[in-house]
Amino acid sequence: MKANIVILPGDGIGPEVTAAAVECLRAVAKNHGHDFQFAEHLLGGCAIDTEGTALPESTRAACLAADAVLLGAVGGPKWSDPKAKVRPEQGLLGLRATLGVFANLRPIKVHARAAALSPLKPERLAGVDILFVRELTGGVYFGEKTRTPEAASDLCRYSVIEIERVLRRAFEFAQARRRKLTSVDKANVMETSRLWRETAVRIAAEYPDVKLEHQLVDSMAMLLLTRPADYDVIVTENLFGDILTDEAAVLCGSLGLPPSASLGAGKVGLYEPIHGSAPDIVGQNKANPLGTIASAALLLRYSLNLEAEAQALEAAISATLDAGIFTPDLGGTYSTQQVTAAVLEQLQ
Ligand code: NAI
Ligand code: MG
Repeated sequence: MKANIVILPGDGIGPEVTAAAVECLRAVAKNHGHDFQFAEHLLGGCAIDTEGTALPESTRAACLAADAVLLGAVGGPKWSDPKAKVRPEQGLLGLRATLGVFANLRPIKVHARAAALSPLKPERLAGVDILFVRELTGGVYFGEKTRTPEAASDLCRYSVIEIERVLRRAFEFAQARRRKLTSVDKANVMETSRLWRETAVRIAAEYPDVKLEHQLVDSMAMLLLTRPADYDVIVTENLFGDILTDEAAVLCGSLGLPPSASLGAGKVGLYEPIHGSAPDIVGQNKANPLGTIASAALLLRYSLNLEAEAQALEAAISATLDAGIFTPDLGGTYSTQQVTAAVLEQLQ
């Protein structure tokens, strides 16, 4: 098949890890007879430096016209003056809004060798396979903000439509997996959470084969560490999802490993590792490329509908970890390029 993929290397280690993922996608295309075209565009701090805006119009147009978008990371100390008018994160939030990607998927699968580096006991981690579905375009991040010298406020607002559409995605993923859905809220204190829970209960009638349970977010934060293997699909709103998915990444052994996919009603999905631009290791050939390569596998699965190719790439990542070919974040001595070469060799 033919596919146009926009690459947004971004800032910091972004260019290093996206280059690795593009090499892997090229290898997959060659092995399976596909024609993938790649076009690089600016987003984040690098776009601010040259264009004066974090999301240039040319980037926006290219992403809307693409089949899928693969992003490295944005941000860094150079652009983090709190008084700055333009900030790299605006590029990311703007892109998510432009693409209408309301469901952020973060699969948390624990690889046995890498998980040995997790602070949790190995027996707790055995069999962990969670799919987080985080609402991405609503809630407190997008609500009205106010500021006076004495006080500040951030409004948390959710419409029924916003809640329904992300819950439906989560139920559908649960149907295709182990048919258990955990909906996370704070319904004992927050009105948006009460609406969320009522909506979940109502929608559940459409998915009688899925077992729905509710957890309060504070208790979920504990359960993720004490009983992570008990969960299948976990769905939650934007802020709770941001925090819980970072917590869950710890189970994997390194922030450099988990991938993410952001999907909406439109055809264009946005794929990125969950880590940031890692300014402390930029340019040292030390960045773990596997989170971005795993994000490329999700791109094959969800945007291009190439399940066999996605599985082949995931198997190559897993085999690389099995062989102990680790970057320094996992306690190894291999470089970004050496790990990438190992994945490419597995793909042969
Ligand atoms: P970070 O994820 O960039 O780094 C946290 C720690 O993890 C650092 O020690 C870093 O070296 C390490 N790390 C991250 N990714 C790694 C990888 N692939 N391989 C090896 N080690 C890795 O988070 P931090 O330091 O809080 O933020 C740095 C910058 O990134 C900030 O400007 C922040 O705003 C931005 N950021 C961007 C995100 C995005 O573009 N989606 C997400 C999170 C942060
Ligand atoms: Mg976060």
